[in-house]
Amino acid sequence: MDDTVLVLNGPNLNLLGKRQPEIYGHATLADVEDLCRTTAGSFGLRAECRQSNAEHVLIDAIHEFRVGAAGIVINAGAYTHTSVAILDALNACEVPVIECHISNVHRREAFRHHSYISAAATAVMAGFGIHGYALAIRHLAHLRSREG
Ligand code: DQA
Repeated sequence: MDDTVLVLNGPNLNLLGKRQPEIYGHATLADVEDLCRTTAGSFGLRAECRQSNAEHVLIDAIHEFRVGAAGIVINAGAYTHTSVAILDALNACEVPVIECHISNVHRREAFRHHSYISAAATAVMAGFGIHGYALAIRHLAHLRSREG
């Protein structure tokens, strides 16, 4: 088992800080990735940060880390609400998966209330802003320490 946490961001999250800041805040994707690297480092882990707007690239990244990693933190963006293919990829994972949303999707439009990927997630974060990523990594570190 290695010490890597895959932090995977999906479509439109490259526009963080510019896109609907009233919903997603002013932090950029680079800020999120810095936060993840620092948080992972503080637990003796390493964050591998990837972002893509393409579903197959997200799936390929999940395949790459599905065995052996410390876990996966995924914000699949709108694919959360549409993608059986990402659900299938996550169901093939042997490592813990944390689904993370910056906004509280349950306070928003009805189509955001259903997540295909929650069925494959160890835990789900929503509405914690970018701090949710740090909390998710902290939880992966906790799960790992329990494994000894
Ligand atoms: C999101 C919520 C999704 O509904 C939306 O499509 C996103 C971002 C979030 O982080 O709050 O792109 O996953």
